[in-house]
Order: sequence, then C-alpha cells, then structure tokens
Amino acid sequence: MHSLIIFASGTGTNTRAIIDYFKRNAIAKVALIVCNKPDAGVLDIAMNEEIPFLIVDKKTIHETLIIDQMESCKPSLVVLAGFLWKIPDSIIKAFPNKIINIHPALLPLHGGKGMYGHHVHNAVINAKQQESGITIHHVNEVYDSGDIILQARCKVLENDTPASLAERIHHLEHFYFPRVIEFLLGTPTVSIDV
Ligand code: GRF
Repeated sequence: MHSLIIFASGTGTNTRAIIDYFKRNAIAKVALIVCNKPDAGVLDIAMNEEIPFLIVDKKTIHETLIIDQMESCKPSLVVLAGFLWKIPDSIIKAFPNKIINIHPALLPLHGGKGMYGHHVHNAVINAKQQESGITIHHVNEVYDSGDIILQARCKVLENDTPASLAERIHHLEHFYFPRVIEFLLGTPTVSIDV
C-alpha cells in the first residue's frame, strides 16, 4: 500500500476526490494532510476520515519537524492540492521527484506567485483566452515551473465568470488528479498465491 501526503489550504475538493478514488482502488491511502489554515475545510475532511493532519504555522513550526513527520509516513508521493505557501527548498530536497502540484490553468500561462484560485481564472478571462484547463506538474524550487506531467483542456465560454470557469476546471481536476497519481505510483502488481 502506497502512502500519500497531501498539502492543502482550502476546501479540499481535490483531497476528497483523491481519498474517494483510492478507497475504490486500494493501492494507496492518504497518510497525512498538511494544512496552514486552522479553519480550512480540508481539515473537516481529515477529521471525518480519521486521517492524521498537521497544521503548520510559519512562525512556530520548524521545517525539520515537518520533514520528520512526513518521513515517518514513508510517502510514495507528496501531493499539493491547493496549498498556498511556496514549499520550502528543504522539503523539496528531502523528497526529490516525489512532489507534484495541480494548477488550474495551462502553464506556463497564468502561473507564478500570487496566481491561485479566482486570480488565475480572472487572468484567463481578462486575457480573452479561448481555452483553459489544468496542469499537473512536478514541483521544483521555482513556482509552477517543474516538468509537466499532464495537461487537460476545456473551453472558456463567452459568458464565463471566474466561478463558472472554476467549476468546469474542478471537474477536470477531480477526474485527472487521482488517475495521474495512480499512474505515477505504477501499475499495481498482481500477486498470485500458489
Ligand atoms: C484547485 O483549483 C487547484 O488547482 C489549486 O487549488 C485549488 C484547490 O481546490 N491549486 P480544492 O481545495 O481542492 O477544492
């Protein structure tokens, strides 16, 4: 069984999709949720699902404590699902090639510092883009610039608002994110008892 660690700061609909997907397909489980907002909806999910969680606060928690707790889960992947801080370099170095992120636009467009949530969808609409989508990518030291694993596209409609576009993009995220995670974990092995 693979362990996943999820970093999230928001309502956690992607976290929910990942948990539900791997309940049906038991090759992985979410072993830890790391969150920087004590009132985030994702923490209700963690509590309801009895998943251990860690609330991090830049002022009080040291990176090595986060890394220690993460290492104790022996994660196969660390999944950023709407985590609003830039991941410290020490965490990136501690989990080489194991950290992935989902961005709600087609990188390299509309990424970088400050580009999250409705800011991204606003930028897409203001730029009169005809399409947007999602980018799932590896995480390196520079915001939204790691190698791209998958992009999926959707149309931007003439009367789209940031909220209506976000809803369409969430559908893509909930479908593709768990499946990309499964792909990265490798094909499950079949064991035959003789
Ligand atoms: C998603 O749109 C994701 O692309 C972005 O943050 C959002 C998180 O949404 N990185 P949720 O909390 O999973 O609903």
